[in-house]
Amino acid sequence: MRIYCTKDYDHASRVAANIVSAQIIMKPDCVLGLATGATPIGMYEQLVRWYEKGDLDFSAVRSVNLDEYRGLPQEDVHSYRYFMDTHLFDRVNIDKRNTYVPDGMEEDAEAACRKYNDVIRMLGGIDLQVLGLGHNGHIGFNEPGGAFEKETHCVTLSESTIRANARFFDSEADVPRQACTMGIKNIMQAKKIVVIVCGESKREIVRRSFCGEITPEVPASVLQLHNDVTLVGDEAALQDWEKGI
Ligand code: GLP
Repeated sequence: MRIYCTKDYDHASRVAANIVSAQIIMKPDCVLGLATGATPIGMYEQLVRWYEKGDLDFSAVRSVNLDEYRGLPQEDVHSYRYFMDTHLFDRVNIDKRNTYVPDGMEEDAEAACRKYNDVIRMLGGIDLQVLGLGHNGHIGFNEPGGAFEKETHCVTLSESTIRANARFFDSEADVPRQACTMGIKNIMQAKKIVVIVCGESKREIVRRSFCGEITPEVPASVLQLHNDVTLVGDEAALQDWEKGI
């Protein structure tokens, strides 16, 4: 695993954006696995800036997002489709027909998940997967205790995830209780993975994920078994690392 310990959030965002842009430059029609949450916003901002300067071309890029809430239509400001449109897709020259986010409105959730796995296969798999990290070790919406073998599936969100994500909604009661997420298997099949972690609040889970036991109780710990993971973090999240854990 490669580790970039950066001085702060902006620096981490630029390093992560550099990794994504290198991927796009090396393979213009690459498949990017994309993430939501607060952490990758700075990275998307940087990618948009480089696009505006003429340094990046998204015209052939394809993308698959990790997850989506169940029951939120695409145009809902809290949906992950809306997040991706506003932070990236509507601001660069990506062809939106080549951007995929799980369909949280499909009545037959199992069918929606199967369709999403087919999309990932049809695209030829993910070249570079971007990940954030939940405080309980979740990646995408793969909550503690789920099987590592799963592909895209529906999940019931844990109380801690609902609480953590309430900051994006008017109240905790408004946070959807279910989501559709790529499984650990889809994520582990990505050729490369970049994980971005920032802030003191992520320190403990970073340590447990990357230096602790590999266990479904800490979903991100499975990343220790992937052969091309880059961890990008700020000093606050990686301070144990700096001390040699
Ligand atoms: C959500 C997303 C995850 C994300 C996590 C951490 O639950 N489903 O993909 O990694 O939040 O978010 P943040 O970056 O805001 O800490």
